[in-house]
Amino acid sequence: MARHLITSALPYINGIKHLGNMVGSMLPADVYSRYLRQRGHDVLYICATDEHGTPAELAAKEQGLPVDEFCAQAHDAQKAVYDGFALAFDYFGRSSSAQNVEITQHFARRLNENGFIEERAIRQVYSPTDGRFLPDRYVEGTCPHCGYDRARGDQCENCTRVLDPTDLINPRSAISGSTDLEVRETKHLFLLQSKLQHEVEEWVSRHEDDWPQLASSIARKWLNEGLHDRAITRDLDWGVPVPADTWPELAAEGKVFYVWFDAPIEYIGATKEWSDQEPETRDWKSWWYDVDSDVRYTEFMAKDNVPFHTVMFPATELGVREPWKKVDYVKAFNWLTYYGGKFSTSQKRGVFTDQALEILPADYWRYFLIANAPESDDASFTWEHFTATVNKDLADTLGNFVNRVLSFSKKRFGEEVPAGGEPGEAERKLGEQIAELLAEYETQMESLQFRKAASALRALWSAGNSYLEEKAPWLEIKTDKDGAALTLRTAMNLIHLYAVISEPFIPTTSTAMRQAFSLPDDTATWVSPAEAKSLTTLPAGTPFTVPPVLFAKLTDDDLEEYKERFGGEPA
Ligand code: 2FM
Ligand code: ZN
Repeated sequence: MARHLITSALPYINGIKHLGNMVGSMLPADVYSRYLRQRGHDVLYICATDEHGTPAELAAKEQGLPVDEFCAQAHDAQKAVYDGFALAFDYFGRSSSAQNVEITQHFARRLNENGFIEERAIRQVYSPTDGRFLPDRYVEGTCPHCGYDRARGDQCENCTRVLDPTDLINPRSAISGSTDLEVRETKHLFLLQSKLQHEVEEWVSRHEDDWPQLASSIARKWLNEGLHDRAITRDLDWGVPVPADTWPELAAEGKVFYVWFDAPIEYIGATKEWSDQEPETRDWKSWWYDVDSDVRYTEFMAKDNVPFHTVMFPATELGVREPWKKVDYVKAFNWLTYYGGKFSTSQKRGVFTDQALEILPADYWRYFLIANAPESDDASFTWEHFTATVNKDLADTLGNFVNRVLSFSKKRFGEEVPAGGEPGEAERKLGEQIAELLAEYETQMESLQFRKAASALRALWSAGNSYLEEKAPWLEIKTDKDGAALTLRTAMNLIHLYAVISEPFIPTTSTAMRQAFSLPDDTATWVSPAEAKSLTTLPAGTPFTVPPVLFAKLTDDDLEEYKERFGGEPA
């Protein structure tokens, strides 16, 4: 059985992420990892904060903190939110780690030895007031095409034309506003991706048929446009330093690698961070080096990250000329919008992950987001849709079923799974339906079709409700006590089954459901469709307790309050 390596795109260090970031990378990766672990696979799920780059430096400056301190704090703050979302990473690392520095520098040296790195002099805007070179997007000015006075040096937001900072009229620093700017010559390392074009093309063509269309079409588009050589170093204070043994002059000038060069390498770096914590039992290289088909590697990301993961990082890995593991499956997502518009940090529109947890527990969000993941198209978050889904699927279909069955049985039969009755036609039919839906759920999970998996799970919950309505034990008990006992026992078996199979979506609630029963040796992590069919895992006499209401129903007042707080109108 292959081992599963799973990574989700590394969240940038600056700022707590919004629900759109969560659903496009970490949450589905967690759901998939949990599912595979339940099925008995050896899984390693790795993520980390992406800590380098100008935005991190600027955010630190804004808070008046040294950048390393800022990153340490921001990393802990993000980690706390992910713990709150019950994301079960095997390791959540930091791209500024010593391990990532070591591996990034190693990659650069190897690329250089293999003739894929070249030193070139370029001309760049320098701001004496800020004491730094300005990346293109930190030079602002008037667009020469449309006259928009806040155009950025890489692109005019108003007319969308691509610009060079030297095109701008009245250029100024976006950091300090200073107009005292110079163009200075500076040397940088260039990764000669053009020399790797054919190899990357050949590699992509061997994989793209397996990838979802969203990933393969983006990879193709980039390849068709041709891979360009690109600068992989920057004049910044914060980043992985260029190694002095190979480039003494650049190292002395304080050059660091560009954030997009070291970020994907941190997937490996974070695995080494994990391994270094327990070197006797963990072996990072056994997941990454010379493993080929022993490891199946799945990456999760939103669509803007696809070019880096399908083309550029593979180009780097190929150019290193060492057998580093390359991705097998790229699960890409479209955008989650907020009422059809962009989630916007600066305009404070949308819901951030920390705020989400202030309102409701993680399972509400996990289920809603995955059931509505932007898989085949963009999806829109609205509070109306969210509250309606929570009420219908979680509160009514699942939560109410659990409470109704257990409370009624306790009232009429006491605190043990009731004995009596023999399964008949209704139970046989139910068993078959459950087995079929469970097989469908497994198929969708295995093919990473999360919306469809959620539909199958919802159908499994609904099947229990239909059975209960049909058998109506609250009436049955008046004429046939054994029959009512059978119905309730069967329904309790469903509850136990739901607890096991819903775990990837709603882990906390699943635990509460499972713990309602004191079943000795209840260690099975999965139930196969064939086993599920009999609906007799939970024998008569098993003690149980009635858990508190699993999902609160959200009221119209709640809805109004959320809309008021977060702004519930189209952008
Ligand atoms: O787009 C982003 O949020 C990046 N921080 C993703 C990096 S993924 C990786 F390659 F590290
Ligand atoms: Zn313009």
